[in-house]
Amino acid sequence: MGWRINQSPNLTKMWVAGGNAGTAALAENFNIRSSDIDGLVSKASEVKADLVVVGPEAPLALGLADRLYEVGIPVFGPSRAAAQIEASKGFALTLMKEAGVPCPDFASVRDQAGARSYIKKHPGPLVVKADGLAAGKGVLLCEDSEQVSEAVKLCLTDRAFGDAGETVILEEYLSGPEVSVFAFSDGQNLSPLVAACDYKRLGDGNIGPNTGGMGSFSGPEFWTPELADQVEKSIMYPVLQAMAQRGTPYKGVLYAGLMLTGTPSDWKPKVLEFNCRLGDPETQVVMPLLASDPLDLMLACAEGNLNETQVRWNNKNYVGVVMVSGGYPEDYQTGFEISGLDCDGPEDTMVFHSGTQLGDGGPITAGGRVLTVVGGGDTTEQARIRAYSRLENINFEGAVWRRDIGSSAHLGAAGSSK
Ligand code: AMP
Ligand code: GLY
Repeated sequence: MGWRINQSPNLTKMWVAGGNAGTAALAENFNIRSSDIDGLVSKASEVKADLVVVGPEAPLALGLADRLYEVGIPVFGPSRAAAQIEASKGFALTLMKEAGVPCPDFASVRDQAGARSYIKKHPGPLVVKADGLAAGKGVLLCEDSEQVSEAVKLCLTDRAFGDAGETVILEEYLSGPEVSVFAFSDGQNLSPLVAACDYKRLGDGNIGPNTGGMGSFSGPEFWTPELADQVEKSIMYPVLQAMAQRGTPYKGVLYAGLMLTGTPSDWKPKVLEFNCRLGDPETQVVMPLLASDPLDLMLACAEGNLNETQVRWNNKNYVGVVMVSGGYPEDYQTGFEISGLDCDGPEDTMVFHSGTQLGDGGPITAGGRVLTVVGGGDTTEQARIRAYSRLENINFEGAVWRRDIGSSAHLGAAGSSK
């Protein structure tokens, strides 16, 4: 997001909370944690920010946007009440039920007895989820009732997800291709939608442990204008209207994680989750598609006049490959020098930093997911070739990445749970 904002002719100066070696080249990094709401509000006031753009969900769920509005600073990102759409899965499911938005059948329970009564009626495979924010970890796919009660115990008794698991959601198990759909919103109006797929598993062919994301591509083949229209009408607008009717209009970027049930000739998209932000690593392949001025657009969302701003997406394809530290998502070491970042790759390639920081001699690794190497093109294949060709020059000790991101085998179903 910082990379795209940095291209705006309207930008005078950018500050980034936390930040990494990548943002250090574009902005002034400062060291305030994303959970320190008081600290962030004071910093924004001190630098007289014209706009605050919030990336992650946690500060939104803690009310950062509300606090910034109180001191008169426009903010791109939803209020605490609207961020419930991500922060509580039960909230999102209830809202969808009320608004008639297609989603899995579900129950929200707080004890084993509640879980048992749902399992009786729904003996098949189920998905057990911690209701609250669990950093992408609180989802357990269960084959039978025994696994379901184990998973419920893990949340309620073992408290594996802390307070996030005090309420547990049991959900009908769905299958099909997954797609992340994004739209900007000012509370009433929506931008045109854009779609991307992410890869969650560590290994080629979607095997191995779940991760924060090993890669992504934008413009999946199945994302036709008809499907976009269907998702806009049956999912995005009804949710926006329901939020406005509750007195908690949704401003910011609305991310719907969908599973396409049905068949390619008659997709029936259902919502697996909403997020109150851009996804990672989808952002890295979605921001290069944004043809409009990012600051105009984000300010219009904050100020409620998105209908006066044209949001345009270009129709190229982007593929992003994530390079992670050896051992991730388990234990890993950091502090390794990253080489090859200055080597030019083919045209339309970019390197986005995640877990990096500036060492004495240049960028070093500082996290599990280190970099995303992105290539663009007129087709996914061209984008994929460019991304991997740029990646060839980049290295750090123990680097791991998938070789099959954006390859034709997955274009229909990169993140499919099957
Ligand atoms: P979530 O955090 O809700 O997106 O869930 C993470 C992943 O779990 C999704 O990307 C899916 O692969 C899988 N998942 C979540 N809910 C379901 C469901 N109801 N049926 C099948 N798979 C699911
Ligand atoms: N790519 C999934 C997420 O950001 O939640």
